[in-house]
Amino acid sequence: MSDAHDPSRYAFLPGTPPYPTVTGGDGVWLHTADGGRMLDGAGGAIVGNIGWGRSEVADAARDAMAACGYVVPLWPTPWRLELRDRLVGRWLPHGFGHLFFTSGGSESTDSALRLARAYQVSQGRPDRWKVIGRHPSYHGMTVGAMAAASHLGRQAGYEPLLLPFPKVPWDDAEQVVKVFEQEDPATIAGFIAEPITGAAGACLTASDDYWRTVTELCREHDVLLIADEVMTGYGRTGTTWGHQHFPFDPDVIVGGKGLGGGYVPIGAVATTDRVAEALRGSGFMYFTFTGNDASCAAASKVLEILEREQLVERSRTMGEVLGSRLRDALDGQRYVRDIRGRGLFYGVEIDANRDAVVMAAIERGLWVYPAGSGPVPNAIMVAPPFVVSEAEIDQLVDVLRASLDAVG
Ligand SMILES: Cc1ncc(COP(=O)(O)O)c(C=O)c1O
Repeated sequence: MSDAHDPSRYAFLPGTPPYPTVTGGDGVWLHTADGGRMLDGAGGAIVGNIGWGRSEVADAARDAMAACGYVVPLWPTPWRLELRDRLVGRWLPHGFGHLFFTSGGSESTDSALRLARAYQVSQGRPDRWKVIGRHPSYHGMTVGAMAAASHLGRQAGYEPLLLPFPKVPWDDAEQVVKVFEQEDPATIAGFIAEPITGAAGACLTASDDYWRTVTELCREHDVLLIADEVMTGYGRTGTTWGHQHFPFDPDVIVGGKGLGGGYVPIGAVATTDRVAEALRGSGFMYFTFTGNDASCAAASKVLEILEREQLVERSRTMGEVLGSRLRDALDGQRYVRDIRGRGLFYGVEIDANRDAVVMAAIERGLWVYPAGSGPVPNAIMVAPPFVVSEAEIDQLVDVLRASLDAVG
């Protein structure tokens, strides 16, 4: 029998660390059940772009729920139309006029794989099924998303379930050329990439030359280039989309996390008019909760707040502050190997156990995100809400330094 007052009964698996119970939040702060507060240095799972306690987002979701509970996904509703129009009119690059809503990042990347396949079939190329992924990378936990990614820890043991999608290194343009040749472009449907590698690489950033090569090869062979912007989208890296930092020209943009700002589960797959036109009349099966109205209403409000408070610009400027403070405080710390990132999206690669560092930070009132796989075994990600102040950045960096120093 579990103790009704024991928070560990929430854990799906026994042995999960004793995380604090969170009862609320405001700005960059989480309120905990013991009456304390914790600095949310990672916006939860790098979702909380607008910060916490925004009751107008709750009001928007409530209004949609009160109006009607559920409408089948193919039918328009005011909340779906508003979100679609805001995204197409103000957020997506020119020519991206078509959107498919999902419940989060994994459903979105998985749908993008399906879209790449459907596009190739529509072009009379049924032999094209492979979607090239990168090593390391993370695209979510559906079996399709896992197959396209290379996150050794999260894939371990599931390999027999996963399609053998080819992988290219995250930074080597010559290898990309070689893999296209070896695999035969007549079998390749898509190429999926995080513009800046998130959970698997803690902000690994490839060169312009690499992205130019990827874009050119995809264009040359009519392979759909999918930008996985689940972490990097909606202003996280200081530009609207992460791919805008590079000569990286996608056919499909996949988003999740920041679209709902952490308030609702929602993701979106956007594609160009050209790709959507190729699929005219073919059907693209939706999920039961595609276009969920409360989620759409909340996401529209999240985007409105980002626009109204110019938070993408703030992500850029506060990101410069974060980068310089991290370097000042952590360069030369015995465990720190590298500090890298753009906007409010930073990775600190370390030579210490990342989980020990994360727990040391929690004990000191700070949440940071554990990351890394393959060539980046241990890293911490720092990605606070865009409303973070300079004083809060100073506090975050001080506590992170103390947490690293405390790990033996
Ligand atoms: C780049 C990227 N793609 C996809 C996903 C999966 O998103 P979700 O966890 O919302 O399903 C994540 C989650 O961390 C991610 O970082």
